Order: sequence, then structure tokens, then C-alpha cells
Amino acid sequence: MLYAYLSGEHPTLPLAELKAILEAEDQPYRILHVFEQLALLEAPPDAAPLVVRRAGMVKELGVVVVVAEADHGSIVDAARTADWSPVKCPFYVKPRFIQGYGSTHLDASRLAAEVGGIVARATGCRVSASKPASTVRVMVTEGAAVLGVVLARQSYAEMHARRPRARPFFKPGALSPEFSRVFVNLARTRRGGIYLDPFCGTGGFAIEAALMGARVVCGDLDRMMVRGARENLSWLGLMGGCDVYHGDALAPPLRPDTVDSIGTDPPYGRSTTTARRRVLEVVEGFLQEAAGLLRRGGYVFFAMPRGVGDPEELLSSTGLVMVEKHFMRVHRSLTRLLVAAVRP
Ligand SMILES: C[S@@+](CC[C@H](N)C(=O)[O-])C[C@H]1O[C@@H](n2cnc3c(N)ncnc32)[C@H](O)[C@@H]1O
Repeated sequence: MLYAYLSGEHPTLPLAELKAILEAEDQPYRILHVFEQLALLEAPPDAAPLVVRRAGMVKELGVVVVVAEADHGSIVDAARTADWSPVKCPFYVKPRFIQGYGSTHLDASRLAAEVGGIVARATGCRVSASKPASTVRVMVTEGAAVLGVVLARQSYAEMHARRPRARPFFKPGALSPEFSRVFVNLARTRRGGIYLDPFCGTGGFAIEAALMGARVVCGDLDRMMVRGARENLSWLGLMGGCDVYHGDALAPPLRPDTVDSIGTDPPYGRSTTTARRRVLEVVEGFLQEAAGLLRRGGYVFFAMPRGVGDPEELLSSTGLVMVEKHFMRVHRSLTRLLVAAVRP
């Protein structure tokens, strides 16, 4: 059994991203239980680095050693009877109180010391804070403590270095690399597959898709954005695998049945242009095109403002089938729907 430590940035997207990546990477899985920011699942341990390498909102995957009640005595008792064979020498114990669970009645240093002593005796390994080969986790969440060993952990430093404001071309409206990854992943983008973003703006999604190994095609109606997206992709040395065109998402320069995934953030009529069309008209027209461009089994993941139309109804006339829907609050008067659909 594995655990996945999820970002607290959004209530539903991190788990959805985990599932979508496992699907896109052809990894068998079964979600067993979902706690706050922590999911327990059956999946091959080899899937852990694949997930973490491309995730925006999955922070860490590890192998579960034992699950206990979230009090000191139960955690220590469970640690004593657990099989610590996944631990490599030397190791280090890092408790994590998710959302502050446990912080009122547990002492992190005492827990780390006691669990550390038990693991050291069970494995014969010494503890090393500076160069551990394994990190032992005590993840405390709502009503449970999950003890495990880290298999793969996200490093946000690289994502931070390519955040929208750090890139040579910046415009407001560009999402963070973490959120951009969610769009690309929820479109079930595959390595080597053709990924399309027809409303690419500054190229934020294109960057993430290219880093995941997809062949990227992206476009924008605004010439300045096209130049900017190219500049940003070049800055990261990614232009080689990308084709950036100038054109309308309602008439993209691609042949039918050639695209494997589409992850895109259409304009919503606030700070980004809709070329004087109504938002609904743009989304509707784009979905018609998407349905024709996608190969069978291909996914589209897109955003639209809540209240401008029913996504299921919009999709029904295209032949695409909605598979999931999430809400994203932008500010008091704007909530967006994030929708995944598949071409059956
Ligand atoms: C919300 S922004 C996309 C932001 C983008 N994800 C990024 O990383 O910068 C929407 C983009 O759609 C473009 N756009 C608006 N109408 C369009 C159309 N009909 N076809 C193509 N692009 C369009 C706008 O110029 C804008 O750059």
C-alpha cells in the first residue's frame, strides 16, 4: 500500500491529478481511503517517481508501513510491531502534522526520537539527519497516523524558478506551474503524445507539457502572446519540441483525429481578450473543434466561468463525454468550472 501526500491548495484537484497521472502513465491503481491531504492507494511502488516527476499538486509518495490511531501511545505501539524492511540505512524520521492535526496533543521531536529508536533497533541502521538514504514519515491527519517510508518527493525549487513573473515574457492571467501542471495532467497527457493548447497565452501550459515529454502544439489569437510564448519556451530550451502558431482556437491549423490531449484555459472576458465574442460562444466553438481534433480516447481539460452555461449540455452536442468537474474560486464574483471530457 502507498500513501500520497497531497497539496492543500485545492480541495479536489490534487487527488484528481494523482488519478489522472496514474491513468496517463498506464499504472494500475485503486484508491483505498482519502484523509485530509492524504490518500492511501494500491499502486506499484515504481509509479511513485513517475507521479512526482510530473505532478503539480502531489507532494510526496511513499510506502505505508503501518496505520495507527493519532495518539502518541498508539503510534509508538504500531511502530514496534511494524515491518520496517523498506528502510535503507542510514535513515531519518520526519513527522508531519497535516493542517495542524496532532499539534495540540503530539510532540514532533519526541515522536521522531521514539520512532527513530524503534526503527534503528528493528533495522540495525543508524540515524543521519544530513545524508539519509531513507526518510521515515509519521503523517498525522484527521483521526489517523500513517507511518511510512518516502519513495519520491516533489522539489518545488525548479517550479518556483519558472513561475510566471520569473519568465522573460509575463502577462497577468498566467497560472502557476503547479496549476498549469494540473491542466496538463487532467488532460491525461502522455509522453510522446501530441498535446494542444489553443489559448496558450504566455505558454505556461506548453512549458509544463513539454517538460513532461509531450509533443506540444499551441496557439493564440494575439500575436504578442505568440511571440511571448516562443520567448518563454526558448528561455527554457524547449522550442525544439514545440510548434507555436498564430491563429483562432475556433479554426486551429490541425487535421482531425491527430491530437492526444488538450489542456487549456480559454479567455473569460476579464483581463484577457475574447476578440469581442461572448465567452460562451468561444467555449462552445472551441469544444466543437476539440471534438474533431482529438483521437478516440483523447481527453480535453478546460476552464469556463461558472454561470455562463452548463458544461454537460455544451459537451453533449460535440460527442465529448464529461468525466469530472471541479470548482476554482478566482475572487468573490468569479468562480470557474474546470472540466475534463473524453472523446469515446
Ligand atoms: C486565460 S489566457 C491563457 C493563459 C495561459 N494559460 C498562460 O499560461 O499564459 C487566454 C488566452 O486566450 C487568447 N485568446 C482569446 N480568444 C482566442 C481565440 N479565439 N483563439 C485563440 N486564442 C484566443 C488570449 O489572447 C489569451 O492569451
